[in-house]
Amino acid sequence: MRLSRSELLFVVTSTAAGKWTEHEILAYLEANPQRAFFSRLFRDGGFTNGMEVGVAGGRFSEHFLRDNAGRDGPWRWTMVEPYPPRDLRHRLEPPAAGSLSWAARGLDANVELTFLEMLSSDARALALPNASFDFIYLDGAHDYANVKQEMVDYWPKVRVGGVLAGHDYCTHGEHVPHACIGCKDVPACGVYTHPDASGTFRRAKTQVGVVRAVHEWLVEQNPGLNLAVHHTLEDFTAESLASEGISWHDLVLTKTRNPSWYIVKTRGTVEAAASSPATFQHETHPGLLVLCMCLGLFVGLQLWTRSARPRHIRPERIGR
Ligand SMILES: C[S@@+](CC[C@H](N)C(=O)[O-])C[C@H]1O[C@@H](n2cnc3c(N)ncnc32)[C@H](O)[C@@H]1O
Repeated sequence: MRLSRSELLFVVTSTAAGKWTEHEILAYLEANPQRAFFSRLFRDGGFTNGMEVGVAGGRFSEHFLRDNAGRDGPWRWTMVEPYPPRDLRHRLEPPAAGSLSWAARGLDANVELTFLEMLSSDARALALPNASFDFIYLDGAHDYANVKQEMVDYWPKVRVGGVLAGHDYCTHGEHVPHACIGCKDVPACGVYTHPDASGTFRRAKTQVGVVRAVHEWLVEQNPGLNLAVHHTLEDFTAESLASEGISWHDLVLTKTRNPSWYIVKTRGTVEAAASSPATFQHETHPGLLVLCMCLGLFVGLQLWTRSARPRHIRPERIGR
């Protein structure tokens, strides 16, 4: 068994914190290739800190809350939305009789919710701590320039071993540079989930700007890191999700069934940052592994304790 230092560090910290490893994340999402199952990275995969950028009415966020209502232990969810529609304001209201707010329905019982009423480029959002999020989902503006900037801004906020993802990864077949791992396999945009005025299910708008931003970011920002892009398929039915315990498939649907992209922040990131990428030349001694796991557990506990303290950033909140 040969492990590089960074591989060892990654395995130790992931295991000690009880979070799925890169291999486990990819295996799970390849077996369950729909965005609905991103919530299982929290429920089953040990993720505890997530963010959705561009939440609109809060339906996809609600999916995460509902799916994690019975999870073991507390978790955190941050939402960035500059133009909160009425649905979102209702969801964020304090509990009141007859209210459909998350608080009234007990969906906020185990989660610390943070709502940032601002653009993803706002300095207060950009001041969120680096390497602190297990999962960030980009679904705000969908033009090339915004998505590319968000990738630059939000990638550092994902911890090593976490996932950066985003919605609307599909084209109408336009040429997009694909000199990156996973980039040749770009799905075609399907049809809108609702018919137009004439009753026709029209083909959903191309998201070539999103795809180009993701590919270019991979090639330009991270050469040599061997990061790979993956995507979901969204070929679920209400029944297929219900059979997995998700009886609210409407919260996962938008106007389209466009796939989502996702990138696991691999240990390669650590290797690139390390001054010496030397690998262990000998079999890793089991005693050393146990020692490192104890160390990882200690570090994990320290981080957990620190994260439970009040945050320096007290973002704007609605109804909480
Ligand atoms: C497609 S909707 C999000 C849908 C939601 N994620 C879901 O799955 O139900 C896009 C949202 O992004 C917001 N948005 C647009 N530009 C943004 C930006 N620069 N930063 C953050 N959010 C933005 C819009 O106001 C809109 O509500």
